[in-house]
Amino acid sequence: ERDGETAQDLEGRHVVVSAGGTREYLDPVRFLGNRSSGLQGYALARAAASRGAKVTLVAANTALADPAGVDVVRVETTAELREAVLGAAAGADAVVMAAAPADFRPLNRSDAKIKKAEDGSAPAIELEQNPDILRELAAERPAGGQVVVGFAAETGDATGSVLDLARAKLARKGCDLLVVNDVSGGAVFGSPDNEAVILESDGSYVEVPHGSKGALAHAIWDRVAACWRAV
Ligand code: CTP
Ligand code: CA
Repeated sequence: ERDGETAQDLEGRHVVVSAGGTREYLDPVRFLGNRSSGLQGYALARAAASRGAKVTLVAANTALADPAGVDVVRVETTAELREAVLGAAAGADAVVMAAAPADFRPLNRSDAKIKKAEDGSAPAIELEQNPDILRELAAERPAGGQVVVGFAAETGDATGSVLDLARAKLARKGCDLLVVNDVSGGAVFGSPDNEAVILESDGSYVEVPHGSKGALAHAIWDRVAACWRAV
């Protein structure tokens, strides 16, 4: 985190941050999920609050204490995350999608617990795609310079480098900034540290050196504030 007295440079701003990973239920006790801890989203919420912003944190299945001075809305599924984020975004100056929404959900959710068959057979699970919240946010943002930020964890592949893939993703999503983690060297789940590139919609980027998730959070708010100044 920042040392000394933190400038209240986000005062008067309302920001929305999503954090954690969604769960898509098969039945009342079973779900498909992912390993997002929510640490980066919580660091973003804390950093914004410390700089004077009004913060709404939409938390999906995190095991973290509510940050002081932050409005926390708890959700489980991607559908609930979507409702909460779109609702909070209506009057917001920035929305940061640090959450990991499950890309797919079971086509059917059983009201009763699914039982094992006597014959040893296993059920086939049919999936459908979840809506893309970030894309929807970017496409339907209110007039007046709301800044929309996405996250992407990428590994380079035969079709391109991490940066190529990230630039294509930013364009596809239509967001203003994309925070890119290169996870080629192993994932960063639950780690207190992070290292990232903050990509802008004009293709330029800022490299944030390896450091705490709090330090990355402050670097992201610095870029968001620069976007506000540019409108
Ligand atoms: N995201 C979202 N809604 C979804 C999936 C992702 O809002 N249904 C957001 C994430 O919160 C993140 C950004 O989109 O900020 C990028 O997520 P990512 O999983 O990298 O994007 P996808 O479009 O799902 O692409 P991929 O096939 O690489 O998973
Ligand atoms: Ca995805």
